[in-house]
Amino acid sequence: MSRYYQTTPIYYVNDAPHLGTAYTTVVADALARWRRIAGDDVFFLTGTDEHGQKIDRASAAAGLSPQEMADRTASRFVRAWSELGISNDDFIRTTEPRHHSAVQAFLSAVNDNGYIEKGSYEGLYCVSCEDYFTEGEAVGGNCPIHGKPLEWMSEENYFFKLSLFEQKLIDYYEANPEFVRPLTKRNEALGFIRSGLRDISITRKAVQWGVPVPWDPGHVFYVWYDALINYATAIGYGTDQERFGQWWPAVHHLIGKDIIRFHCVWWPAMCMAAGLEPPHRIVVHGWLLVGGEKMSKTKLNQIDPVELAADFGADAVRYHLLRDVTLGSDGDFSYEGMVGRYNADLANNFGNLASRVATVVDRKCGGVGPAPRPDSKLAQAATSLASASASAWADFAPQDALELAWRLIREANAELEATEPWKMEPGAAVDGILGDALEVLRLVAILVSPAMPTACAELWRRIGMRERLSDQRAPEALEWGAYTAGAAVEKGSALFPRRSS
Ligand code: MSP
Repeated sequence: MSRYYQTTPIYYVNDAPHLGTAYTTVVADALARWRRIAGDDVFFLTGTDEHGQKIDRASAAAGLSPQEMADRTASRFVRAWSELGISNDDFIRTTEPRHHSAVQAFLSAVNDNGYIEKGSYEGLYCVSCEDYFTEGEAVGGNCPIHGKPLEWMSEENYFFKLSLFEQKLIDYYEANPEFVRPLTKRNEALGFIRSGLRDISITRKAVQWGVPVPWDPGHVFYVWYDALINYATAIGYGTDQERFGQWWPAVHHLIGKDIIRFHCVWWPAMCMAAGLEPPHRIVVHGWLLVGGEKMSKTKLNQIDPVELAADFGADAVRYHLLRDVTLGSDGDFSYEGMVGRYNADLANNFGNLASRVATVVDRKCGGVGPAPRPDSKLAQAATSLASASASAWADFAPQDALELAWRLIREANAELEATEPWKMEPGAAVDGILGDALEVLRLVAILVSPAMPTACAELWRRIGMRERLSDQRAPEALEWGAYTAGAAVEKGSALFPRRSS
C-alpha cells in the first residue's frame, strides 16, 4: 500500500468561503477519494491561514480582534466543507499551538543550517498579496494582481538565503519532470527560478499578529513563511517524527495558479534548507471566473457554495466544478451553464439510465436484478472505458475521468434504445440486456463516486449491491461481471429531478 498525502492551500480568514475556494477543495477531495479507491493509505488536509497584516487590518475594520475574526471565519469554512461532503482527515488552523511550535522548530532548523541572516529591506508591498513587488512588476504603482496601490515598506528583517537554492531547484526540476503539473505551470516556475532568485525577507517587526521568531521574539515570521509550514505541522513535524516520516515527502499539493511562486519556488527551497526532501508533487489549477473575472470580495462577484449546494444538492455542485473546468485552465462559472449541464448530464443521462433500468427490471424481472453477460458489446466498451477513466483519475484529470464515465452511460442508454427491452417478453434476452445495464451502473457508481459520493452510494444501494461502495478497490472492482445477480433492485424517486431553472 502506498501513502498519499493530499493538501489544499489554507484559506485566508478575512474572506468567507466562495465558489473559488470551494473549487480547490472539491478537486482535492475528489483526488483523495480516488486514491482511497485505488487502495492507497490517504491523509487529506485542509485548513485556514490566520496570521498576517491582511487579517489584522480586516479584523480591526470589522471591530473584532484578529482571533475573533479567525474563529468566526474558520468555523464557516468547516461548515461549508461539511455541506459539500469534503472528506478531510484534519483541519489545520495556523493559530493553533501545534502549528506555532512546528513553525518555530522548522525555521530554527533552517537557521541552524545557516540559511537565515539579518538585513534590512525596503520595497513596494501589497497587503492583499502579503508580498513585495519590484517597480517593474507594479502596474502604474498598483499591485499587478489586486490593482490596489502598493505601499512603501522599510524594515529590519531576517532573510532566507533563497539565492543559494537556485541551482539546486533547477536540478530538482530537471530530475523530476512531473514535479509540477501541468507542464505549462512547471515551465513558468522553472523560468522564474532561471531568471535569478533573490534572498527573501521572512520576518516582520511592525506586525504582531504572527508566530514569534524563537531567537529574536521582537519579530514575527512573515505570514507566508508560517503558512507553508502547515503542511508539515499537520503530520507531526517537530512533535512526532515517526508520523512525519510516514507521510513526508508523499505529499500532493493542489494550488491555484496565483500562488505558484510560493509553492513551487520558496517551499521546496525551504524544505531543502530544513534538511527535508521537497514535496513529491504540486498540481496547479486555473481560476474560476464569473463573467470573465476572478471571484473576489472587492469585486463582489462571489458565489456562496453553501447556497448553491442547498439549491442543487452538494453532489451536483461538485460534479459541475469537476466536469466543467479542465484542471490547469481557467473556467467561467454561470448559473445557466450549471442548470444546462445538470439537466443534460445528471437528469437526462445518468439519472435516466438508473431509473429506466430499475423500472424495466421491476416490470420484466419481478424487481430482481439478472446477471450481466460476459462477452456482450457493452462488456467490451465498459472494460476499456472504465480503465481509461481510472487512469484519468490517477493522472489528475477529473474532467476526463468523468467524460469517460459518461461515455459509458451513453453507450448503455444507446444499447437500451436499440434493443428496447421494455417491449420484449420476459426471458433470457431481456435478462442479459438488463444484467449488462446493471453492471454498467455498478461500474459508473465506483468511477463517479469521487465526484458524487452521496448519489453514487444511493445508486449502489438501489441496485442491490451487498458490499459497501467505500470498500471497493480499483482495478479489481472495475473488472466486468461482478454485479451480484439475484439482488432486489429498488426504483426509488429520481436521483436528479429535472430543473426548469
Ligand atoms: N492563504 C494563502 C494560501 C496559503 S497556502 C500555504 C491564500 N489564500 S486564499 O484564500 O487567498 O486563496 C487560496 C486558494 O484559493 C487559491 O490558491 C486557489 O486555490 C483558491 N481560489 C481562490 N479564488 C479562486 C478562484 N476564483 N478560482 C479558483 N481558485 C480560487 O492564497
